[in-house]
Amino acid sequence: MRQPIIAGNWKMNGSLESIRTLVSGLKDGIRDVNSAEMAVCPPAAYLAEVSSLITGTTIALGAQDLSNAASGAYTGEISGDMLNDFNCKYVIVGHSERRNIRGESDELVAEKFKAAQDAGLTPILCVGELLEEREDGITEAVCARQIDAVTDAYGVSVLENSIIAYEPVWAIGTGKTATPEQAQDVHAFIRGHIASQDQSVADGLRIQYGGSMNAGNAAELLAQPDIDGGLIGGASLKADDFLAIGRAAG
Ligand code: PGA
Repeated sequence: MRQPIIAGNWKMNGSLESIRTLVSGLKDGIRDVNSAEMAVCPPAAYLAEVSSLITGTTIALGAQDLSNAASGAYTGEISGDMLNDFNCKYVIVGHSERRNIRGESDELVAEKFKAAQDAGLTPILCVGELLEEREDGITEAVCARQIDAVTDAYGVSVLENSIIAYEPVWAIGTGKTATPEQAQDVHAFIRGHIASQDQSVADGLRIQYGGSMNAGNAAELLAQPDIDGGLIGGASLKADDFLAIGRAAG
């Protein structure tokens, strides 16, 4: 059985004051979340604060990005070991906003994936197609290419200690969600693609859906057999909405 994981990607939102309120709301309601693992990924500047606020709770901490390098002269970057200092368990790599706005290549994302694992962190590898790629019928090819960049470089077994988030770029922050069928189709493709290399890695891999998942549509999406959680942007900024998604996971 794959335990569902609901992770909140706060992106570059919030202030010290607002995140204190948000975390306090999450701590109040987390008891009612039964089976799902819940994680939050605050902006790097607030990792220390959130880390101390959630100590002793079941909420896990994640970061939104890390450097592909372990240390050195990389102004502005943050290493996996630094994330460990704040008890991060997860780190998002290859979010579409980093791929498409910051120009991160498949190769760089693969290096970040490896850097995360080398530091003992569990990478959440984001994959997903642009609207024009869906319209061109190459959704599966795009997802396969983004995953293969990791497995070609480091082998399929590295996926054992990772999570994949399927996030159709056209659904992110747009209020436009993939239908449960559209999402399930791609999730099944991803699992099958990995199964063709290693069945047991594919069976154990948690694949999250991301893209305008909210309290209203979460239950239907999470009921799909290959959807093992959600990576939540906008709806993770409100404690009640995020907790409702956690409860919808079962
Ligand atoms: P959204 O973002 O839930 O606001 O669409 C999801 C994501 O980018 O991870």
